[in-house]
Amino acid sequence: MKPRIVGSSQAMLEVFELLDRIGDNDVTVLITGESGTGKELIAQALHQQSKRSKNPFVKINCAAIPENLIESELFGYEKGSFTGAFQRKLGKFEVANTGTIFLDEIGEMNLATQVKLLRVLQEREFVRVGGIQNIRVDTRVIAATNKDLNECIALGTFREDLFYRLNVINIRLPSLRERLADIPELVENFSRQLYKKFNKPYKPFSDHFIGKLFQYNWPGNIRELQNLIEKTIVLGDEKIIDKKNQEFKSKIELENKQFISDGLLNMDYKSAKEMILESFEREYFNALLQRANGNLSEAARISGMHRKNLFVKLRNLNLK
Ligand SMILES: Nc1ncnc2c1ncn2[C@@H]1O[C@H](COP(=O)(O)OP(=O)(O)OP(=O)(O)O)[C@@H](O)[C@H]1O
Ligand SMILES: [Mg+2]
Repeated sequence: MKPRIVGSSQAMLEVFELLDRIGDNDVTVLITGESGTGKELIAQALHQQSKRSKNPFVKINCAAIPENLIESELFGYEKGSFTGAFQRKLGKFEVANTGTIFLDEIGEMNLATQVKLLRVLQEREFVRVGGIQNIRVDTRVIAATNKDLNECIALGTFREDLFYRLNVINIRLPSLRERLADIPELVENFSRQLYKKFNKPYKPFSDHFIGKLFQYNWPGNIRELQNLIEKTIVLGDEKIIDKKNQEFKSKIELENKQFISDGLLNMDYKSAKEMILESFEREYFNALLQRANGNLSEAARISGMHRKNLFVKLRNLNLK
């Protein structure tokens, strides 16, 4: 069964528009997005809307395969090319011939394999491990990653030339936080599927429950939402979200310690700002001096301030 891609938020409409424009064109696509945002779903959709839809869709997860095996997984090996290679084995590129290969978690691929992949993308041919013959394939490539490949390039763990070969078209999938408006539709979609799966009569979730889903930040995105719905249906208890929200809220509270108090809201903006600024400076320079063990030069170094300016600041704040 073809899974439905749910969404009518602005962010998803943009994704759908891009999918439409790609249509059945055989272009290389790089899908990016946080984990659980639907990268694999989109890769399948691209294959299904292409002229290759009746041919194989072959997935390989570059993160799950040990470094020394990835090459033979991708390109296959010849009989006798290493101990245990009793017969020739085809790699995923050959298995996916006339179809699509989906290179998942491409950001985890090692540099040596990246070189070989680049060659396939440029020449459309490769050599099996232990082989000499060039194998030509007609395999469409779709890659996905939750990493920032530009950052990987800067760190030297990803080849820039490969990036440009893969990133012919980029589909960036929004996080669930960026498309909260889609929550009700997603919940309905998943709950219809899951009630059926567990042979329970369908019963819509309460508005109260849906409302609470909007207060959570969804680091695991759609997959996390799907799992929550499943758990709620199996246990028959909508209260599960309360626990999630509680954990989330205490985290947020810890992060921004609520410095806008009622008292501040009774002042005008300018005085409130000065007051916050002064208490920030007091806390900051206190902590700074502690970190620097009271050493002024060290404090100047850590804060990036000029030693003299720092001295004046501390004196004005009456800190020593
Ligand atoms: N827009 C959507 N509509 C319906 N279901 C979706 C949607 N997006 C994702 N899903 C579902 O959410 C789950 C996670 O999606 P998928 O595996 O494609 O994400 P991913 O980005 O590949 O995640 P990861 O990075 O963890 O591998 C799947 O069960 C998928 O069917
Ligand atoms: Mg995935």
